[in-house]
Amino acid sequence: MKIKSIRAVKKIAGKKVFLRADFNIPLKNGKVEDDFKIAASLPTIRFLLRYKCRVIIGTHLGRPLKQAGKKTGRQENKKEYSTKPIARRLGELLGRKVKFIDDCVGPKVREAASGMKEGEILMLENLRFYKEEKENDKEFARELASLADIYVNNAFAVSHRAHASVSAIKKYKPAYAGLLLENEVLSLKKILTPRKPLVVVIGGAKIKTKLPMLKKIRRNAGKVLVGGALANNFLSALGYEVGRSLVDEENIKLAKKIYSKYKFLGNKKIILPLDVVVSKRKDGGGKVSVKDIDKVNKSDVILDIGPRTIKLFSAFIKEARTIAWNGPMGKFESDHFRHGTLSIARVIAARSTGTAFGVVGGGETVEALKMTKMMDYVDWVSTGGGAMLAFLGGEKMPGLKGIAR
Ligand code: 3PG
Repeated sequence: MKIKSIRAVKKIAGKKVFLRADFNIPLKNGKVEDDFKIAASLPTIRFLLRYKCRVIIGTHLGRPLKQAGKKTGRQENKKEYSTKPIARRLGELLGRKVKFIDDCVGPKVREAASGMKEGEILMLENLRFYKEEKENDKEFARELASLADIYVNNAFAVSHRAHASVSAIKKYKPAYAGLLLENEVLSLKKILTPRKPLVVVIGGAKIKTKLPMLKKIRRNAGKVLVGGALANNFLSALGYEVGRSLVDEENIKLAKKIYSKYKFLGNKKIILPLDVVVSKRKDGGGKVSVKDIDKVNKSDVILDIGPRTIKLFSAFIKEARTIAWNGPMGKFESDHFRHGTLSIARVIAARSTGTAFGVVGGGETVEALKMTKMMDYVDWVSTGGGAMLAFLGGEKMPGLKGIAR
């Protein structure tokens, strides 16, 4: 894969850079709750600062425009979607001033950008306050690009979207990949051309989002270990009782299809739970018990994988030379149902240390990994959820076009 990295920019010193970051992170009471994505982008920002670049940072935060109206221009000014707290946190992490400006286009922004001195950082307001961002609007993209000399995409996590600041903008200024984006691409590429055996662990709820990846890795994957609500759909497709667990017709149908496709390869690659942790209530309250999958009854709700499954999955992970994990094994937010997810996280982290190349991604998955305090043991923790799946599914990603081929 060819990457047009910022390391290859000629005469980078002092340049004005529009850095598209993905700082789409949780905020609470005006404070950053989780700065993982900010921290991941620090090497790129520090690289630019080392060359005394003037860095203009743009990001989206959440989905502030619920319904795209006909109106153009800035539409939303909800405080909870402002990127101001992110600018503050970035400043703390860098140990230097990050100037915030409460818009991302227009005269005020142009003035602030043109007055920047070498080594200064300017953070713009939420790009999604303009519906033009999501519409990949050329004029909006041109205006963002006009603020700087070069464009750097470091926002891997949103690069599967054809949005103005990740897609159209590349037409208007020389475009490069930031160090984070570069590492994302190189690390995920190792899953597509793996050292074998490749073990893929998937969980979460929606099969549809994982379908392209499951197709793409079919031949290379040694085993695909399935947990979480995803497993319920597979179990149901194979005729097992899953009680009142989270399943739906569409996902069951898809599970059936995938299962049969994998079977044609002549060896059983998809590994489903042998036992599960169940409750009588969907919220997990009340009596909790471990059951073999053929003992689950109509009133049970499956909320985690059981101990025999943890042992089985761990045995496969311990044999792996390449590991990819996306999606929790159960309702890990709750004490009673996190053993499966956290045990798998620990085994993956331990195996990733030297012996296998391990990649973990997805918002909830990374959250679970953090709980184990073993995040640093994993070779690559992706900042992308949907973007990681899109990449592994072989999708053409608008944000990568022209900078990572
Ligand atoms: C993410 O958090 O996965 C990215 O920032 C993309 O966000 P989106 O799904 O709202 O486009």
